[in-house]
Formats: sequence, C-alpha cells, structure tokens
Amino acid sequence: MNYLLALPEQTEEIITLFKNTFSDAEGKEEGGVIATLVSDFLSVPSIEDDLHVFVAMDNARIVGSIILSRMHFPNGENVFLLSPVAVATDYHGQGIGQTLINVGLETLKAKGVAVVVTYGDINFYSKVGFAPINESLIQAPLTLSYPEGWIAQPLQSDVIKPMNGKPRCSSALNNPNYW
Ligand SMILES: CC(C)(COP(=O)(O)OP(=O)(O)OC[C@H]1O[C@@H](n2cnc3c(N)ncnc32)[C@H](O)[C@@H]1OP(=O)(O)O)[C@@H](O)C(=O)NCCC(=O)NCCS
Repeated sequence: MNYLLALPEQTEEIITLFKNTFSDAEGKEEGGVIATLVSDFLSVPSIEDDLHVFVAMDNARIVGSIILSRMHFPNGENVFLLSPVAVATDYHGQGIGQTLINVGLETLKAKGVAVVVTYGDINFYSKVGFAPINESLIQAPLTLSYPEGWIAQPLQSDVIKPMNGKPRCSSALNNPNYW
C-alpha cells in the first residue's frame, strides 16, 4: 500500500471512492451528498497549503482518501479540519484508515499546524489520537447537530490552548447539512 498526496488527475476516482463507500455504509442518498462535498472540495481552486488530499493506493487503485482543510480563525491560529475520510468497503479493517490519517497528521505537524479538528465517531478517531473537545476551547464554524462528535488533537504540544472567536471553514463545508 502506498500513501501519497493526491494528483489532479485522480479527482474523478476520489469522488467515486467517497460516493461508493458512503453509499455502502449509509445509503445511496448519503453517498450522493458526500460525492457533492468532495467534488466541491476538489473543483474549487484553493490557496496553496489550505487543502491537503491524501490517497491510499493498492497498485493503481485508490482504496482510501482523506481531506484536510484549513479553518480560518480571527487570530490566525494554524488549525485544520479532517473531513471526510473513506476507505473502500472491501479494504476495511486492514489499518488503512488509521495509517492514512497518521500520514496526514505527520505532514501537517511538519508544516507547523497547531491543532487538527474533526467531527465524527470518537470510537474510531480516538485510535489516531483525537479526544472530545468543548466549544469553549474551539468553536465550530457552523451549529453542531451532534456536539459529542466535535473532537481534536494538538500536534505541537500536549495541550490545546483555547482559541478566540468563530472560525470560517472552507466553502465546500459551509453548509448546515454537513454539521
Ligand atoms: C471509518 C473508516 C474510514 C475506517 O477505515 P478502516 O481502514 O476500515 O479502519 P482501520 O482498519 O484503520 O481501523 C479499524 C478500526 O476502527 C474501527 N472502526 C472502523 N470504522 C468505525 C466506525 N465507523 N465507528 C467506530 N469504529 C470504527 C474498527 O472497529 C477497528 O477497530 P479495531 O482495530 O479495534 O478492531 C472506514 O470504515 C470507512 O470508510 N467507513 C465509511 C465511511 C465513514 O464512516 N467515514 C468516516 C466518517 S467521516
């Protein structure tokens, strides 16, 4: 398995991976919703260093992908959001998701990113270092329908220092339906 930064020519294959994986896990409608999200992420040009897309490749096939996008805080803290994450259904349970996330986190750590936040199931994300946070520490960009899923980890120290103000997320994620 190879873990790499995604290339522009892989866009369609990445969208299909997310669509199929979420259709299998949560139904066709959710697969379509996530496909739209990923397509928005990959079609809108982003400022360099504000978006990082990684893929897991088994020979020529993309079998996993993660998207990391910058959140903009009023005081300019260096924070990224990890979402979404998918591993092809027939490749689940082989450690690919955890390895892919660890590769992404190592890359951001080397770039000086202070904190990575995500919004999901703590039972999975705790395996790669995430822990629940309160919005008094880091606010979410939009209203959370599932506050228990707001989780984070520091990359440069052992603690997360509280961040002032409401962040702005990437335009792709700026939709209440995703939160
Ligand atoms: C969640 C997902 C990315 C995990 O990828 P993976 O490569 O199968 O995960 P790994 O093999 O690295 O890790 C497997 C471990 O995570 C756990 N796990 C996997 N999916 C989980 C989930 N949805 N909830 C809780 N735990 C989960 C497994 O039980 C396993 O635990 P174990 O090692 O103690 O047995 C993959 O299952 C997936 O794409 N699911 C559908 C889409 C999705 O839910 N994405 C995440 C939300 S954004």
